[in-house]
Amino acid sequence: MDKFVIRGGNPLLGTIKVSGAKNSALPCMAAAILTEDEVILENIPQVNDIETERKLLTSMGAEVELGYGRAQHRTRIKCAILSDPVAKYEIVKTMRASSLVLGPLIARTGIARVAMPGGCAIGGRPIDLHINGLEAMGATITQDHGYLEARADRLKGAHIVFDKITVTGTEDLLMAATLAEGESIFENCAREPEVTDLAALLIAMGAKIEGAGTGTIRIQGVSKLHGARHRINPDRIEAGTFLIAGAITGGDLNVDCCEPKHLGALITKLEQCGVKIDVGTDHVRVRSGGELKAADITTEEYPGFPTDMQAQYMALATQAEGTSTVIENIFENRYMHVQELIRMGANITISGRTATVRGKTPLQSAAVMCSDLRASASLVLAALVADGETILDRIYHLDRGYEHFEEKLRGVGAQIRRMGDVFGRK
Ligand code: UD1
Repeated sequence: MDKFVIRGGNPLLGTIKVSGAKNSALPCMAAAILTEDEVILENIPQVNDIETERKLLTSMGAEVELGYGRAQHRTRIKCAILSDPVAKYEIVKTMRASSLVLGPLIARTGIARVAMPGGCAIGGRPIDLHINGLEAMGATITQDHGYLEARADRLKGAHIVFDKITVTGTEDLLMAATLAEGESIFENCAREPEVTDLAALLIAMGAKIEGAGTGTIRIQGVSKLHGARHRINPDRIEAGTFLIAGAITGGDLNVDCCEPKHLGALITKLEQCGVKIDVGTDHVRVRSGGELKAADITTEEYPGFPTDMQAQYMALATQAEGTSTVIENIFENRYMHVQELIRMGANITISGRTATVRGKTPLQSAAVMCSDLRASASLVLAALVADGETILDRIYHLDRGYEHFEEKLRGVGAQIRRMGDVFGRK
């Protein structure tokens, strides 16, 4: 298994570029299932989850060309025939987002067989809201041997109020409703930019959707969708991770090719921590404003503070003067980075969903282990300010969602290198 070797101490200086959003690209690739025409997606990040989705679509009979021509970040998907509408466990076991193919598959083919998802080990992560919604739209769903099987002649529009806000649940049902008969009204929807991004693609494919990005989405089902070309939004979580990298190292970092509008909650918090921020149209510059100050966060659905930034923020909080309280509202069991941060010298206690970080504590290098995607990013950030050389194991978690992470960080002065496994295991 690959590892990172990171020597801390360098302030990050210069410009770092943000890639396309993995969490937009995944539903947009799934949306290609809805049409037999070609869908072209630009600004696709080169990360392992995207490769998994390519394999998944290909295994169903789709033609998927990733990075064709001179455009490394473009993908062309054509689902002319979906001979095998099955999301096999061997392919999707590492990726929870596999449930995103459920809605489009059943809408297009009338049958979907999808392995129950794996993915990050951050709590139970049920998919009951996807299932309830599809049932409300007329699907019959059964479960056997770790697979869900959904069948319907043609889905029917439905009025659904989500019990809880779910990002991929909103996306899955939105895709299903585009080809359903009649109107669907969804309430208590996720308002994340990734939902809006997906809706923009679906509209370009001929779907009739109003209200994406708000709590209520209306969809008028159509009988057919056509091909389209769409550019994926910048990754707000990658951008946020870089902003914290600049702040924690006391650097001067220009985070380029991002969408500052999607970073509001994090920028506000960094300013409270005493970090200097300049916001441009497509970039954010982060600079040291002297000593970091403690500030509390509570994770919430967008536009609140993202749960996907909680672990990285906690690394920053270890370097802030005072006590920061972190409340994780979205997922239980999302504090797996904490034990590793403590091993590096952090002072953190956990009680239920609340973590209390007492700073500032100097961090020391150690051999540490990644447990999930964002926890890995948190440990890299901690290592960037640790005294000595940190060895970060199981970075395959990080490779699921960050494109050329170490190369980008090296480009702005970090001392980070990848060490391959002597046996060639990933
Ligand atoms: C998506 C993101 C993930 C992010 C999360 C929350 C993708 C591919 N992943 O995950 O990076 O951390 O949003 O912003 O976009 N829930 C249920 N039943 C369901 C579905 C969800 O109870 O059927 C619960 C979950 O357990 C969780 C909460 O709803 O407590 C939010 O989960 P959800 O928004 O669905 O997360 P994902 O879409 O899986």
